[in-house]
Amino acid sequence: MTKAKRNIVITGGAGFIGSHVVRLFVTKYPEYNIINLDKLTYAGNLANLKDIEDKPNYKFVKMDICDFEGVYKLMQEEQIDGVIHLAAESHVDRSIKDPFTFARTNVMGTLALLQAAKLYWESLPERYEGKRFYHISTDEVYGALEFDDTLFTEQTPYSPHSPYSASKASSDHFVRAYHDTYGMPTIVTNCSNNYGPYQFPEKLIPLFINNIRKGNPLPVYGKGENVRDWLYVEDHARAIDLIFHKGVAAETYNIGGFNEWRNIDLIKVVIKTVDRLLGNSDGHSLGLITYVTDRLGHDARYAIDSSKLQRELGWEPSLQFEEGIERTVKWYLENQEWLDGVTSGSYQKYYEEQYNNR
Ligand code: NAD
Ligand code: DAU
Repeated sequence: MTKAKRNIVITGGAGFIGSHVVRLFVTKYPEYNIINLDKLTYAGNLANLKDIEDKPNYKFVKMDICDFEGVYKLMQEEQIDGVIHLAAESHVDRSIKDPFTFARTNVMGTLALLQAAKLYWESLPERYEGKRFYHISTDEVYGALEFDDTLFTEQTPYSPHSPYSASKASSDHFVRAYHDTYGMPTIVTNCSNNYGPYQFPEKLIPLFINNIRKGNPLPVYGKGENVRDWLYVEDHARAIDLIFHKGVAAETYNIGGFNEWRNIDLIKVVIKTVDRLLGNSDGHSLGLITYVTDRLGHDARYAIDSSKLQRELGWEPSLQFEEGIERTVKWYLENQEWLDGVTSGSYQKYYEEQYNNR
C-alpha cells in the first residue's frame, strides 16, 4: 500500500522546538512535502537544520506569518493540507519589555494563518476533509499554581499573566473559534518548559550552560524558588507527531513529563553536570550563582497533567530528566561553535550565505 502524500507547512521551523519537529517529519515521512515557513527573527537559525536542508522533501520559505497574502498564495501553490504552527515570539522577559511585537506575531500572525487556511480549504471541493490546523501552545496560558500538588489539566480556566502568555491565550481562543464557527479541524496542545539542543541561549538552561563555560555570573531571579515542569524537546516533537496524526479534531491535549523542579535545584544540577564534563572540581562554579531582581509578575509554579495524552494516545516521555540534562549539557559543550555563532550574531548570515544563491 502506498503511503499517503501530504503537503505540510511547519511555521517557526528554524527555532528551537520547530527545528526538532521539522527534522522528525522530514526524516520519518519521506513521502510528505515539508515546508518550513519562518521569518528568521533573532530566534530563527537555519544552521539548526543543516543536516536535513538538502533533503528532497524539505523546503524553506522566508516569510512573516502576518503576511496574509503571502501565506494564502503559498497555501494555494503548495496545496497545503496540514499546518503545524509553532512560529511565535516566545521569551517572557522580551514580552515584558515589548508587548506589541508579541500581540502582532502571536495573535495577528496566528489569525492571518487561520484565515489563509480557511479561504484556501473552503475553495476546494472536499473543503476541510483530510485537513488539519495544529496550534502549538504553552502551559503558561493557565496562569500560575500555588506551591502545592495541583496540576494544570485541559479543564483549567485560562488566566494568563505575562504579555507573552496573554498573547498565546488569545491565539488559542482564535484557533478554537475557527473550529466552532467555520468547522475547521483544529487541535491545540499546551506544553510545559522544553529543554535540549538548539535552544536560544536567553532561556534558563542554555544561558546558564553558556555562562558557566565562560565563568560569567548566573542571574537567578528572586529567590530561585519558582517551579517549572521540564520536558526534553524530542519528547515534545514525538508528541506533536502523534497528535498531528492521531489527535481528535477540536480537542486540547496537555503535554508534560511530570517533572517539576525548583529553579535553584535545577540550576545546581546544571552546574554539577557542566563542571563534571569540563573536568572542574565538584562545586567549582557554584560561586557564579547571583541572585538578581525578580522578573515582573513572575509565575510561581507550572505543572502539567498530561494523563489525557498518555491515556488516549499512548504517549509517554522517553527520557529520564538526569539523562536529558546529561545529553543537553554534552550537546552544548560539543557544539560551542553553535553557541558562539548565536551569541556573536554571526548565525544571522547563514541564510544569505546558504540560500540567497539557490
Ligand atoms: P523560538 O523562539 O525558539 O522560535 C520561534 C521561531 O518562530 C523562530 O524561528 C522565529 O524566527 C519564528 N518566528 C517568530 N516570529 C515570526 C513571524 N512573525 N513569522 C514567521 N516566523 C516567526 O520558540 P520555541 O521555544 O521553539 O517555541 C516554539 C513554539 O512552542 C512557540 O509557539 C511557543 O509558544 C511554544 N512553546 C514553547 C515552549 C518552550 O519551552 N520553549 C513550551 C511550550 C510551548
Ligand atoms: O512553560 C512553557 C514556557 O517555558 C514557554 O511557553 C516559553 O516559551 C518558554 O520561554 C518557557 O518560559 P519560562 O519563562 O518558564 O522560561 P525561562 O527559561 O525564561 O525561565 C525559566 C525559569 O527560570 C523562570 O522561572 C525564570 C527563571 N530564570 C530565567 C532566566 C532566563 C532565571 O532565574 N534567570 C534567568 O536568567
